[in-house]
Amino acid sequence: MADEHTNEPQTPRLAGAPIPLRAVGATAAHVAPPRAQSEAPYRLFIGTSLTLAVFGGFLLAVLLPLAQALQWNWGDSWQSLVQAHGQLQLLGFAGLFVMGMALRLMPRFSGRPLAFPRLIVPLLALIASSVVLRAIAQPWASGTTRDAALVVSAALLLAGALIFAAIILRTLLHPDSRAEATGWYFCLGALAYVVQAAFNAAIVLDMMRHDASLVPHARDQALIFVQLFGFMLLFIAGVSTRAVPALTGNARSTAASKAAATALAASVAVYACVAFWAAYRTPTSTTARVENIALLAVAAAFVAVAWLAGVFRPHANRVARASQLQFNFVRAAFAWLLVAAALLAWYAGHALVDGAVLDSFQTDAVRHVLTVGVITMMIVGMALLVVPEFAGRRIQHTNEAPVVVTLLVALNAAVVLRVWPATRGVDWIASTRYWPMAIAGVLAVTVIAAIAFMLAQSFIEQRRPAWGAAQTIESRGSSTSAVNKN
Ligand code: HEM
Repeated sequence: MADEHTNEPQTPRLAGAPIPLRAVGATAAHVAPPRAQSEAPYRLFIGTSLTLAVFGGFLLAVLLPLAQALQWNWGDSWQSLVQAHGQLQLLGFAGLFVMGMALRLMPRFSGRPLAFPRLIVPLLALIASSVVLRAIAQPWASGTTRDAALVVSAALLLAGALIFAAIILRTLLHPDSRAEATGWYFCLGALAYVVQAAFNAAIVLDMMRHDASLVPHARDQALIFVQLFGFMLLFIAGVSTRAVPALTGNARSTAASKAAATALAASVAVYACVAFWAAYRTPTSTTARVENIALLAVAAAFVAVAWLAGVFRPHANRVARASQLQFNFVRAAFAWLLVAAALLAWYAGHALVDGAVLDSFQTDAVRHVLTVGVITMMIVGMALLVVPEFAGRRIQHTNEAPVVVTLLVALNAAVVLRVWPATRGVDWIASTRYWPMAIAGVLAVTVIAAIAFMLAQSFIEQRRPAWGAAQTIESRGSSTSAVNKN
């Protein structure tokens, strides 16, 4: 009997042990860490990420547009909750998922055990409590209570960021690390995480001095830029340019990948420095020009990352038959990355000619193409393809293709509905513009809740000793033996 993804001989699996995903034709040596070591607690990260998404960030993604469409009159709380939604989604949902997967994958591609393994659970606790504290305190508390909670939240985030960077840098900068270009993406992304945490602390201290409940707009935008373009996209690009070429039969180019990582990080750094400067001083036509040039460079780096991943120029199809459908999430994520690059280049090009900066509708459009189209899509795709519980699920639940197709259609529809009103800009400012967003929120939260449910169900089911073992696959007969052939 063959392994689901490799057609290699398979040995019975111990109950609860992870089932790895590999490209067809890859050998165990390509993916296994060189020495026995304990698995990073990725389930805790993914479980926390999905919980914060369903009961926090995506719940707000439904309620915030509904509050506008139905004119619930939430007053100033609406804007505070928008900021809470942004941080819950970026640092809680997406951030913790990406961290969990990075910690799980790092020993495999670097050949190094994780540095400071005892700090991994405290890292999760620090970030999760920071995000939750902020989401509760900023909209609901006032005066000294709010200030104290925001300061504690910022301190927890900074402590978590330093631990995260220490683990990443110490693991990947070791002379024996084989992390190649992915190591660059991860190290630069981890530094961006520290920068955003430090900047957040500075913002919070300033809010305290002015008894403010909202982060001033320009600073908020600069902070989100570093979190999204610096941390999130560098990590996602790092994983994609490493894992996807193996599945599309393309050769990995370390030099070109390192160049793309450097270009992306450098343009993000230039934009962030100028945006922070403009947020604390007066923005000028020069700061606008530099910002737009940096955004054009970011757009070019996105195209380079899509090219290097090779999704749209496959030389071979090395995705196992059982995973073909799920791989469409990765294809869709890269298609949305190219849409984001095109939008960014279009908006920044026009703004450069006009001597202006992107307006809030344009920023919102690019932001949600990236956060829903690229990041959420990639998270769902990676969950279905790489998380061990789902690898076993493909063997156990063989009739779930309609569910996967429905999730794929729903998530793509959510991107379109979320971004459409933003692309109309000032031509559609009536409260009706929030209806498509509310529907998008419902679709997205349903997809994430379904993934969370399937993950929890598989986690419980995989405790059965025969789950995913060779004899189980055999007992399923010809329908699943096809699964093992590519
Ligand atoms: C379909 C799902 C989503 C919906 C319906 C939605 C809805 C919204 C709305 C209504 C706003 C306020 C826009 C305004 O100021 O007019 C917003 C802002 C924002 N959203 Fe989303 N969102 C979704 C998904 C996401 C995801 C997945 C992320 C991140 C991973 C995200 C990150 C943000 C950020 C960073 C902001 C700006 C927050 C700020 O201004 O501080 N959103 N979203």
